[in-house]
Amino acid sequence: MSTAITDFISAASEEELLELEQKYCSWGDTVHYLDPPKFFERAEGHYLYDREGTPYLDLQMWYSAASFGYANPRLNQALKDQVDKLPQLACQYLHAEKVELAAAIGRLNSSKFGLDGRVQFNVGGAQAIEDSLKIVRNSTGKSLMFAFMGGYHGRTLGASAITSSYRYRRRFGHFSDRAHFVPFPYCFRCPYGKKRETCELYCVDQFAKNFETEYKSFWDPKAGESEFAAFYVEPVQATGGYVIPPAGYFPALKKILEERNILLVDDEIQMGFYRAGKFWAIENFDVAPDIIVFGKALTNGLNPLSGLWAREELISPEVFPPGSTHSTFSSNPLGTAAALEVVRMMAEEDFEELTRRKGAYFLAQLRELQRRYPKVIGDTDGIGLALRMEMCREDGYEPDRDLTDRMFAEGMKGDLDARGRKVGLVLDVGGYYKNVFTLAPCFDMTEEEIDISVELLEQLIRRCAPDRLSR
Ligand SMILES: Cc1ncc(COP(=O)(O)O)c(C=O)c1O
Repeated sequence: MSTAITDFISAASEEELLELEQKYCSWGDTVHYLDPPKFFERAEGHYLYDREGTPYLDLQMWYSAASFGYANPRLNQALKDQVDKLPQLACQYLHAEKVELAAAIGRLNSSKFGLDGRVQFNVGGAQAIEDSLKIVRNSTGKSLMFAFMGGYHGRTLGASAITSSYRYRRRFGHFSDRAHFVPFPYCFRCPYGKKRETCELYCVDQFAKNFETEYKSFWDPKAGESEFAAFYVEPVQATGGYVIPPAGYFPALKKILEERNILLVDDEIQMGFYRAGKFWAIENFDVAPDIIVFGKALTNGLNPLSGLWAREELISPEVFPPGSTHSTFSSNPLGTAAALEVVRMMAEEDFEELTRRKGAYFLAQLRELQRRYPKVIGDTDGIGLALRMEMCREDGYEPDRDLTDRMFAEGMKGDLDARGRKVGLVLDVGGYYKNVFTLAPCFDMTEEEIDISVELLEQLIRRCAPDRLSR
């Protein structure tokens, strides 16, 4: 290869890089929310730094993958040690970190749910979802799933089939195994027009009615069998806008699933590892899942590793034999070493107390912001350190996507005032109407840093909706 092909590397200006990006980078593996997209050069704690060195306070931490902060020294060190010791190893051989990590998660789950199970790994959330689909299909012989409207499980073909947005399937042919999508209990915008205080979980009754007679298409009463193998749930909808279901919803749903012999698959890829105030978000809702799928924060985003835990009956080698989901990098030693250190860190401190305390502090401030700007913020809610702020029009209800986009872009300009310091603000937009700021702050944030974050959000509101500041 001639050096002329690589001679621009390290010397390119941001303008030149953008030109190269326009010509050589596929846009398929990313999302282009900003035009032009923003470059960052360095990351530390809960700040990203651009090429000029301007800090951007990050309230979404890589979609909740980096809860312990960017470039966390202890986790970096664990990775460096592994690089020097055993950086590569084919997955057919064992290494201690893999086994210890699996054992830690297996023991944790038997203590939490009283169930024996096993763990296996892969390298991304969607890939682990694929693996879980194989486990479900293998054990039930069925390929149809229930999933929620507003749910997101990734963008491989299998994960797209159980993700509600048709947008992610439209270009890619027929999905014969497309899930049946059930309304999620999104109480601020109840799909049935009910009120949380008086609905008596009407939505669960509606789901149960599908099994009343064979003519509703879900159930063969003669065989006592459903056509559906599993229900894929996010206990708290993530991309859907950090939507928190009401108490009682999941136990009622689980009862129906158990009666119909339908598995419950719990996607913890975004909400797991204390984001929602418990190790697994599902623990907030008093049900035991059959399969748990996880990724993202497992390694604090350091090296791709994802995985799943399944009940012994579904995953024992007798029923799910070697090679069922093998992939070259599945239990890669850099990933398992980083993850093992993450799990150790999670065992050393009471993160349930920490995330709940800091989350409650943050939510109280968001609610105060909502009280002061009711013509801009329609809803605020939170569980642990997963917080939502729904941007609405003057009536406090109609979604305001334009305002959300403007605030997002304004934060990226990098010229807000953090008590005398010039900073930017990194936000993530989610929600059914793309009008929700889904906040996943770093676990390390102090109360003062939370105060500053809320001040920055207020600056965005005042800049982007100057005509709607009065109550
Ligand atoms: C709940 C949930 N499931 C699955 C995925 C897909 O994970 P990945 O992007 O690592 O493929 C995501 C990613 O955002 C997610 O939030």
